[in-house]
Amino acid sequence: MTNKTLVVRRPIFPDVLAELRRHATVIDSQSGTALEGKALADALAVADVLMVPATEPVDASLLSVAPKLRLVANIGVGYDNIDVPACTARGVRVTNTPGVLDDATADFAFALLLAAARRVAEGDAFVRAGTWSAGTTLAMGLDVHHRVLGIVGLGRIGRAIVQRARGFDMKVVYHNRHRLTLDEERQLGVTYAALDELLVTADFVLLQVPSSPATRHLIGAAELAKMKTTAVLVNTARGGVVDDAALAEALRKGTIAAAGLDVFENEPRVHAGLLSLRNVVLAPHAGSATLATRHAMVRRAADNVIAALTGATPPDLVNKEA
Ligand code: DGY
Repeated sequence: MTNKTLVVRRPIFPDVLAELRRHATVIDSQSGTALEGKALADALAVADVLMVPATEPVDASLLSVAPKLRLVANIGVGYDNIDVPACTARGVRVTNTPGVLDDATADFAFALLLAAARRVAEGDAFVRAGTWSAGTTLAMGLDVHHRVLGIVGLGRIGRAIVQRARGFDMKVVYHNRHRLTLDEERQLGVTYAALDELLVTADFVLLQVPSSPATRHLIGAAELAKMKTTAVLVNTARGGVVDDAALAEALRKGTIAAAGLDVFENEPRVHAGLLSLRNVVLAPHAGSATLATRHAMVRRAADNVIAALTGATPPDLVNKEA
């Protein structure tokens, strides 16, 4: 592609933007905010390439007002925000940013696990409210060390979480679409379990599966009922993998003890039942949100854009058939 137009929907790092300007005419909001309304519509009308964060929908209606579009560069590894079949049907290539956010997301999954188990957010609110009085039963949480961690979805991020669990002397069981070889299991120090068995035995159930029709409401009322009453659920995967209404009810009734959630069914809106509970830690889809990791993600998305603009195959092409 030469003399092409790149639309950058939300602000990115200035150094990467400057490099992209050397390869294409870049349209961004220039005001530190997202392109919206008429400015967005005008930009899409001439866009050859669109760069978006993984929380920004790219659906058939957007594609219909972007007639020249040939590439959507997603800033994120998950791309359920993008209607890939609709892109493929229009010959629009889609890329993502795998590999660069595994450690940051694994760190954050552990942060949520610890925060939910040890009631960190509750304690913070307590101290700020000035209601702190000494006592041995104050803000008692759950032990993490030596407990059983059940990971559902053992991809790159899941494996990075296993490494962290080792430091806490946890026993790790996992459930995955494809079971690892016995050698891999031995090397990682993990044991395979059917989902039901994992739910029954784990003290911490951590979800790290991709979003797909097969994983929609993977955890609902029936699955929550199988978990220990002392168990903690952590979701750093995708909203929709958990039935949020069922989870709110389970947390309210004490079916499980607590939850740490980074993702929700209708982001950025959060189920009202969750907002009113104290035994859930809520985060704004921030698993990969460190300065270094977000920079690496934007850099990787830019590599895909530049490859396409210079006639090479983008390294992280999701829909080769486009
Ligand atoms: C991803 O990369 O899929 C993250 O969830 C986006 O922050």
